[in-house]
Amino acid sequence: MISPDTLRQKYLDFFKSKNHAVISGKSLIPENDPTVLFTTAGMHPLVPYLLGEAHPAGKRLVNYQKCIRTGDIDEVGDASHLTCFEMLGNWSLGDYFKKESIAYSWEFLVSDKWLALDPKKLSVTVFMGDENAPKDEESAACWRNIGIPEEKIAWLPASDNWWAAGPTGPCGPDTEIFYWVGEGMPPAASNKGNDPDSWMEIWNNVFMEYNRIDAKTLVKLPMQNVDTGMGLERTITILNGKKSVYDTESFKPIIAALEAISGIAYGSDKDKDKDKDLSFRIIADHVRSAVMILGDPKGVVPSNVGAGYVLRRLIRRAMRHGRKLAMEGSFLRKPAEAVIAILSSAYPELEDNSQKIMEELAREEAKFLETLQKGEHEFEKMLPNLLKNPQKIMSGRLAFKLYDTYGFPIELTLELAAENGLSVNREEFDEAFKKHQELSRAGAEQVFKGGLADQSEMTVKYHTTTHLLHKALRMVLGERVEQKGSNINAERLRFDFSHPEPMSPEEIARVEAIVNEQIQRDLPVKMEIMSLEEAKASGAMALFGEKYEDSVKVYSVGDFSKELCGGPHVGHTGILGHFVIKKEQSSSAGVRRIRAVLE
Ligand code: ALA
Repeated sequence: MISPDTLRQKYLDFFKSKNHAVISGKSLIPENDPTVLFTTAGMHPLVPYLLGEAHPAGKRLVNYQKCIRTGDIDEVGDASHLTCFEMLGNWSLGDYFKKESIAYSWEFLVSDKWLALDPKKLSVTVFMGDENAPKDEESAACWRNIGIPEEKIAWLPASDNWWAAGPTGPCGPDTEIFYWVGEGMPPAASNKGNDPDSWMEIWNNVFMEYNRIDAKTLVKLPMQNVDTGMGLERTITILNGKKSVYDTESFKPIIAALEAISGIAYGSDKDKDKDKDLSFRIIADHVRSAVMILGDPKGVVPSNVGAGYVLRRLIRRAMRHGRKLAMEGSFLRKPAEAVIAILSSAYPELEDNSQKIMEELAREEAKFLETLQKGEHEFEKMLPNLLKNPQKIMSGRLAFKLYDTYGFPIELTLELAAENGLSVNREEFDEAFKKHQELSRAGAEQVFKGGLADQSEMTVKYHTTTHLLHKALRMVLGERVEQKGSNINAERLRFDFSHPEPMSPEEIARVEAIVNEQIQRDLPVKMEIMSLEEAKASGAMALFGEKYEDSVKVYSVGDFSKELCGGPHVGHTGILGHFVIKKEQSSSAGVRRIRAVLE
């Protein structure tokens, strides 16, 4: 048995022995980056460095990073997909490239000193080439040299072997490593390309030498980077000879807590229990994600927008599946405690925030139970009319109304309808639902403008302006002001900070005047790399609750502000323009939000 804690440590130790600096993982909520709601990969916080900024810890990095991906949510419950997972990652920022990266991965996987996996149970994929980039002969040659037989190398298209975190930013071809999860030993000719279900991906090595500027433009980066990601839960699964991530120590205690509450057993192999087992797994996954999001120092709570909305959906979906296991009331506390017990050695913030986690879960459970009651009540009001319908069909329009107005899930409408001998016009519901989704997607796409990968002139200007604003706020409102989040695109900056009351018009005017004065002084912007101690001693502002490396980058704007930051920034403030605060409003309890522009 190898535990997640041991695997994490082995990974760090291995890459340390190859001269990589261990850096800490970051928050689940990306700083300064509006392109995504969550950190989706270990490389995410490293985007500026992959694009060419110097990293204070050097060119070889390693860490573990908590990630949330909701794109695969429909696959959650199968053997390997999760909404929250841990990524073990190592990077070369313009240092080594394909040959060394592949050799390191192989050594870590098969060497007796490290994971000691059977090489015969491994296979790989490489990029087959397209109009953007050539066939990745170099990676294939590296694998052959290591001794991988030709038939264990599958050539696949960009949909499998080209990796990018988002629609713009650093990207490139990748080579992925798979482990055999079929019965016995893999047949000689079997690989991911011709036998996809028998192989589980465990590691992805991306060769990031490109930058996507927009849908039509792909350019070469100034340097050749490596970005790898190994799935911790999946690797634990195969190392312990399990078939599914849910059979490992990462999940067993969560599922055991659910068994104890429901009185139902998990994991009989019988077909009739399939749906029930799926519900166990979905709840376990979603509770784990919800706990990790709530436990993050950035402090997201359930809401109807952005990351808060994803959190709300995870909790509510877990509750819906709870009902399928006869857990009708609130039940999330015990499984949440199990999550904290499993993960707090790697993520101590879960312990620190455990009270908040439990309170928010309980609050959301109560809210959803109320929604359910209201929905059921509305359904009952509709029922006499519905029963008059000779075909006993409930229109999709009415079912959608329950969903749209009361938040009542369609699955429950279907259940109630069936209990009363009615069917629901599902096609009509789906159509209304699709329209609604298209509308919200149009909104979500707005989110994909700008971001860290966007180093457009305006975005960089807003980044520097944010430092000026941060300092000016502390001068006007006091040193207790702390940055709670920031979000920048080419059109504006948004800045959240702790402050108990609305700013007065005079305070707003003073902040604007201070920022504009610094712009007029045309201050130089300088970057220095120093130790975290030195940075703190020098009075540099840092983000509360953020983890920093031992050696950090400090950006100073003349004699005015000094802040720990990855960059990039403008060279001097004179080019910024005229600073105007457009809005100052509440963001959440004790947190204010400013929107500002450069005119
Ligand atoms: N960034 C790569 C991935 O997430 C390693 O798969």
